[in-house]
Amino acid sequence: MTTEPGAQPSAADLTERFEAAGQGHVCRYLPELSEVERDGFLRQLAALDLPRLETLIGAVLAAAPADATGAVEPPDLIECADDDAGRARDDEARAAGEEYLAAGRVAAFMVAGGQGTRLGYDGPKGRFPVGPLTQRSLFAYHAQRVRATSRRYGATAPFYVMTSDATHESTVAAFGEAGWFGLDPEQVHFLTQGTLPAIDHAGRLLLASKSSLALSPDGHGGSFAALSASGALARMAAGGVDQIFYFQVDNPLAPVLDPVFIGHQVLAGAEMSTKVVAKTEPGEKVGVLARVDGRVGVIEYSDLGDELAQERDERGRLRFRAGNIAIHMLDRAFVERLVGGDLELPVHRAEKKVPCIDERGVRVEPTEPNAIKMELFVFDALPLAARTVTQEVRREDEFAPVKNAQGSDSPRTASDALADQARRWMGAAGLAPPRDLAEVGPLFALDVEEFRRNLTERDTGPVFDRS
Ligand code: UTP
Repeated sequence: MTTEPGAQPSAADLTERFEAAGQGHVCRYLPELSEVERDGFLRQLAALDLPRLETLIGAVLAAAPADATGAVEPPDLIECADDDAGRARDDEARAAGEEYLAAGRVAAFMVAGGQGTRLGYDGPKGRFPVGPLTQRSLFAYHAQRVRATSRRYGATAPFYVMTSDATHESTVAAFGEAGWFGLDPEQVHFLTQGTLPAIDHAGRLLLASKSSLALSPDGHGGSFAALSASGALARMAAGGVDQIFYFQVDNPLAPVLDPVFIGHQVLAGAEMSTKVVAKTEPGEKVGVLARVDGRVGVIEYSDLGDELAQERDERGRLRFRAGNIAIHMLDRAFVERLVGGDLELPVHRAEKKVPCIDERGVRVEPTEPNAIKMELFVFDALPLAARTVTQEVRREDEFAPVKNAQGSDSPRTASDALADQARRWMGAAGLAPPRDLAEVGPLFALDVEEFRRNLTERDTGPVFDRS
């Protein structure tokens, strides 16, 4: 959250401003700092948009948000095709999406700015090896899909990668070390998301040191502002890109630039679309798509309530089963409208352990959550869209996120899902799947049809790859 650069305000000016905002304590150590430290810190303070920050802090400290007062209904769903009509509907969407891809009208947009605290990996999550046999990294899966799609449709798809201060350097280095994963370096654009400060339970900004605030990435919802501030939107407009395929780095099954999804969005004239998978059970901890007061949005699992979570439809399926897998289509003009107006996404609160210095200037390494981190979520843009599409897809084909070090949603489950997909494709192509692991690289095939087409006698597995 930065303001326009201008003349640097003086230490006295800034102290006055922060005192007026009830945050004067952050300036307490200014007299002790060296000139270099003081200059750096003053720049950091001057970059904060204090009025906006006050609003955000007020919102995040306010009592629990009011429950939706209106009706909560399931969203209209494009269900998985299981008959001829469904397949014809998807074929039509595929043709429309392929046309967009061949005309170079779609950008891939990967968000990779998260700190990956649950995984506890030393480095950006995208470097994590998840390929069942080759240890292919998350970055490699996604970049190779962009490359394979560009090749398939004969048009270079721009690849925008959002990083944060925490992940930027190592992410750019990972692409460099891997020879840009075979992409044209001109095709890849990095943008860095903004930050928001951590606060204590009284709303006071925390200091990470005497000369720095405790800042963290502003959430995946920060991607809208980052697309604008980095010039990415303007670059897209100049390059004839008017659709954005949004996905998150932690899902190695994400079908990047899937033409069917692109087609559903453009055929419906939607501003924002979402892929969902059926929830496995009422208590599964995943946000669901729903219509609240007529507007589509995501209800977090903790806010859905047991009663709604348990409801079944006439076929015995969960009524609120549309689990959000964080794959979206964004109409570029919609993003421009969002960032151009004064629409502010709601701020979410996360209780975290944030190392900081206390009033006596002593460094504290908390063992219990001591701070509130503020975050914006990308799906909060859904209710602001004039039209949306919600497409249901099969979990085993498209969703295996890496969140935790062990157990559910871990590298192990993601890697197993990739191996299972490879075995299914082998079976569908008439090959005997191995009892153990198998792996298909995106440059060999992006889907089962392409897998069948590309098989030669030499391809016996268990690794299927091309360069
Ligand atoms: P998560 O909310 O799961 O966060 O992000 P995370 O950083 O991966 O993991 P934890 O919660 O710290 O354990 C989902 C996706 O959104 C991106 C992440 O990189 C991931 O791809 N993200 C998240 C951002 O790009 N920026 C953020 O500020 C937060």
